[in-house]
Amino acid sequence: MDKPGTTGRVIPALDRAREIKPCPLGAGESCCRVCAMGPCRVTESGKGARVGVCGATPDTIAARNLCRMIAAGTAAHSDHAREVVQTFCAVARGTAPGFELCDREKLSRLAAQLGCGKAEDPAVLAREVGKLFLGEFGRQEGELALAALAPPRRLERWRRLGLVPRGIDREVVESLHRTHMGVDQEALHLLHQGTRTALADGWGGSVIATAVRDVLFGTPRPVRSRVDLGVLKPDCVNIVVHGHEPLLPEVLVRLAADGEMTARARAVGAAGVNIAGMCCTANEILMRHDVPVASHFLQQELAIITGAVELMLVDVQCVMQGLAAVAACYHTRLVTTSEKARIKGARHVEFSPATALDTARELLYAAIDNFPNRRRVDIPPQAVELVTGFGQESIRHALGGRFRGSYRMLNENIINGWIRGVAGVVGCTNPRAASGASHGVLVRELVANDVLVLVTGCAALACARDGLLVPEAADSAGPGLREVCEALGIPPVLHCGSCVDNSRILMMAAEMVRAGGLGEDLSDLPVAGCAPEWMSEKALAVGQYFIGSGISVGLGVYFPGADSKEFAAQVFEGLTQDYGAAWFFEPDPQALARKILAHIEEKRRALGIEG
Ligand code: SF4
Ligand code: FE2
Repeated sequence: MDKPGTTGRVIPALDRAREIKPCPLGAGESCCRVCAMGPCRVTESGKGARVGVCGATPDTIAARNLCRMIAAGTAAHSDHAREVVQTFCAVARGTAPGFELCDREKLSRLAAQLGCGKAEDPAVLAREVGKLFLGEFGRQEGELALAALAPPRRLERWRRLGLVPRGIDREVVESLHRTHMGVDQEALHLLHQGTRTALADGWGGSVIATAVRDVLFGTPRPVRSRVDLGVLKPDCVNIVVHGHEPLLPEVLVRLAADGEMTARARAVGAAGVNIAGMCCTANEILMRHDVPVASHFLQQELAIITGAVELMLVDVQCVMQGLAAVAACYHTRLVTTSEKARIKGARHVEFSPATALDTARELLYAAIDNFPNRRRVDIPPQAVELVTGFGQESIRHALGGRFRGSYRMLNENIINGWIRGVAGVVGCTNPRAASGASHGVLVRELVANDVLVLVTGCAALACARDGLLVPEAADSAGPGLREVCEALGIPPVLHCGSCVDNSRILMMAAEMVRAGGLGEDLSDLPVAGCAPEWMSEKALAVGQYFIGSGISVGLGVYFPGADSKEFAAQVFEGLTQDYGAAWFFEPDPQALARKILAHIEEKRRALGIEG
């Protein structure tokens, strides 16, 4: 396989990671490139300059870099949310014929919670909710309306610290302004703005994206499916949907099941059309329609290398440019679908809510027509069972059914020690880490120590490939967690969705506070988060909003800027004073598990429930 413009082979991400050494100054120490007097490489070790040309210190540079990364992560989640709300508004106006308001009960609940209308007509109600949500992006003053979903103690703390986000876009823009050359130059002040921006993601954009998609496509309930490259079918037209926006894939999944498509596929010698997910688009259609998952982020190129993928659709976020070079070596058609994202070498077929049905039909035809162009097919046989579909609603239901379901039962199990606590394991898979293997080691250790684990994103898919997302995985759980899981018929590791669905974990934590018995703030809960194989800026935004919400978060791989002492003292300790939570860094998954367990036990002791 010739790589365009070079000699040599096209090699997937794992090989490229081996070939490219990460820049040590960009990782642990401080590299600033926000102005043309630099870039400045600044170290505290005495090996080079101790401050930049402008006099910026390593801790200012590290905080500035982190704040910028958080802003980018928040922008990604929130711009995704905006796209979903715009489609939602089009549905409410009747101008998006491929979509409907699927969960009207959730729509009414949301409207009641947000105090925005009691209209009987769901379309009218949806217009009001849509208007409120769109207003959250452009709000200039006051408080994000959705911040009111946080427990009162947390909201008071944010008010005291000036951390309540004003508007989603405003916080992102202000973070970019403050990190421009010569503006905010005090590490802690920058970190607080990073937190306010991240909170606009966690309690703003991400909550909006999750809520609106639930109303449009259905609130997830537990379903079984399968994960790994073995879900690709040698005798079918295979379409892989990859990225983060489930709008077009929702229509595609529905149309693919149509008899017309099966007949068309048969006419070219295939048994039918098979859709498989990749990354967070996978998580979305898996949760709602049990569509199988080809795999997580790291395996996107490998799906094409099976030779069995007729069409790969990509939208936004976590899509490797390397896909184009790999697809060029096979018959796979790579198609970009978001107005925001194109890749040289890929065809562009743009999604629009008004024409989604026609676009989906055109793409299905293109995939089917491509089936006869297949050459050698080599699909690894493995595919692992998983159970998915857990969110605050379905977990409440699992905890006692429609009428008796309550987070009180979860709290009681924590108080009596059957479950020691809860850990969120989220984020990406990263070739710099153990390539998906850290998740298995970490999560097995947590589960063996009676910690209930909630997973999202590619971390969830890595755990699924490890066989951890089935009720039978409770066999390896500690005796308390095992008994609870067996009684409820749930896995010890609950799949809660895509990366924006980390908002579901936040909402569940808020439910735990409301249910009583575990303190009055999120920072009282025996709960921790971690992203052992993070790679994207979104993971830092998620981590910072959990910390700003009072839940400590462990990071693997590396912690950007951690060699700057004052900055490190703030992020690993100082923030606790203000937020009741801080970051911790631990690249070894076993040691990360031990740190999470120690944190949970410390919280239990503080609550007086150490037994
Ligand atoms: Fe260097 Fe300061 Fe410019 Fe950063 S802002 S590149 S530290 S001169
Ligand atoms: Fe994701």
